[in-house]
Amino acid sequence: MNKVVVYASRYGTSKQYAHEIGKKKNIPVYSSKDFPNNLFDIEEIIYVGATYMGKILDLRKFIKKQAALHSKLIIISVGIYSPENLKTYYLIDKKTKSSIEKTNLILKKVYYLSGKLDIKNLSFKHKFLINLLYKNAKKKDLIELTKNELDIINAYEQTSDFRLSKLEKLMSEL
Ligand SMILES: Cc1cc2nc3c(=O)[nH]c(=O)nc-3n(C[C@H](O)[C@H](O)[C@H](O)COP(=O)(O)O)c2cc1C
Repeated sequence: MNKVVVYASRYGTSKQYAHEIGKKKNIPVYSSKDFPNNLFDIEEIIYVGATYMGKILDLRKFIKKQAALHSKLIIISVGIYSPENLKTYYLIDKKTKSSIEKTNLILKKVYYLSGKLDIKNLSFKHKFLINLLYKNAKKKDLIELTKNELDIINAYEQTSDFRLSKLEKLMSEL
């Protein structure tokens, strides 16, 4: 089957996952920015995208650009806010879903993989924002924390479970 992996990554986590998938499945890996325009017979695209402010990086742009492709689309959202379920359609927003529906692409599944926060490597703006969210969360009693706040604390303190081994679970389904 003609499959490819595409990634959109700011700090490298999603890129690392994408290359790991590509290696395990022996299929080509492209950055969403360098996706070639002459690939017409792809049966399946596995899009691995970092999540920022609830949106998967560059996904809508990619969908718009590749609207003519009759390929199945698997989306893997990489982020620190872990959903209860590893396999869920709720991970992508309505706008993204409806933009896929307007194309020839067929949304097959949406999955989640845990991201990580490498505070020292973040841009000034990102560092500021994450520090703020972390400090606010740390002011609260454990019992008051929302699930997202707990995820921020765990990711910030590097106690979250970013592990490539998590990918193993998914590989059997891809
Ligand atoms: C400014 C900022 C906003 C973020 N927003 C979200 C979010 O809305 N949901 C989520 O699950 N993770 C969020 N994250 C965490 C990133 O998705 C996580 O760090 C991921 O590993 C980044 O992937 P990348 O290294 O491929 O860029 C955010 C991180 C930053 C720095």
